[in-house]
Amino acid sequence: MQNKICVITGANAGLGFETAKALAEKQAEVIMICRSREKGELARQKIVDETGNEKTHLLLADLSSQRSVKDAADEINQRWKKVNVLVNNAATVRSKPILTEDGVETQFAVNHLSYFLLTHALMDSLRAGKEARVVNVSSGNHTKGEIHFDDLNLIQEYHVLKAYNQTKLANVLFTYELDRRLRQSGIQHVHAHCINPGLNKTRIGEKATNPLHALAWRLRAYMGMSPAEGAKCQVYVASAPELEGVSGKYWYKSVPVSSVAQSYDEALASRLWQVSESLCSIADYFAPGN
Ligand SMILES: NC(=O)c1ccc[n+]([C@@H]2O[C@H](COP(=O)([O-])OP(=O)(O)OC[C@H]3O[C@@H](n4cnc5c(N)ncnc54)[C@H](OP(=O)(O)O)[C@@H]3O)[C@@H](O)[C@H]2O)c1
Repeated sequence: MQNKICVITGANAGLGFETAKALAEKQAEVIMICRSREKGELARQKIVDETGNEKTHLLLADLSSQRSVKDAADEINQRWKKVNVLVNNAATVRSKPILTEDGVETQFAVNHLSYFLLTHALMDSLRAGKEARVVNVSSGNHTKGEIHFDDLNLIQEYHVLKAYNQTKLANVLFTYELDRRLRQSGIQHVHAHCINPGLNKTRIGEKATNPLHALAWRLRAYMGMSPAEGAKCQVYVASAPELEGVSGKYWYKSVPVSSVAQSYDEALASRLWQVSESLCSIADYFAPGN
């Protein structure tokens, strides 16, 4: 991965940290997008100490804010001008429906819209190299998801898993639609993938949940893999040379597998794309200079 520039969101903890570390071990130049300077810098230093890779950078962004996502992308576009790998990994699990400054429910904003908007805002840099990969971290939970177009914020009837599962289905729908639209736009060298990392021992379900939900996630995570083991699939898809030219797949345990039937519904994916464009005020997703 020498001379490859890899951007990983949510890189200070869990699977994102292990992904950043594994790519740093492979000599990539790594840009870690994190929301906390303190946690991000500790994680960055740990990766530098353990891998010896000094080309490991920290970029601060709160991915629940569209302004912050765009600012991070602007900085990457100006400083690096090229991105070979974008791993949209960050996610949050919330017991309560808190609206962001953009008026979007926080899980939908971080877990789906930040993937959609960051990919768009980095498109020129993704197009700048010989090949680029966008890796969207979804979940087996996508199989239980529905896209609630009449109430995406789930204000009428919010439930932590209803909101989470909606975003994880959105990750798969976005990936397949991105793949189709890249080809339709004549962009053959940017590839899109989504992955299911399986069950892992991370703290995702304990950070913004009530005590009952936190306990349920902790007990469930206890049965999971170590984050280093869980990150292997996204590291493989981000870096395996044999995947050059491969696109539009859903991966589990480093093997392409089928996702849930409705994720292949092109009308559904197209509708989600249009709604996401509108929520992010994007006029033309692939237009240069956006
Ligand atoms: N763990 C599992 O069993 C499992 C299973 C299936 C899929 N996944 C998926 O794997 C991915 C990684 O999850 P994980 O389990 O590794 O969780 P994690 O340890 O909680 O890591 C999530 C990362 O996202 C960051 N993040 C959350 N909200 C953010 C925001 N507003 N702005 C910037 N960064 C933000 C977190 O930062 P802070 O540390 O500051 O919160 C953290 O770095 C997610 O997409 C998740 O849906 C996980």
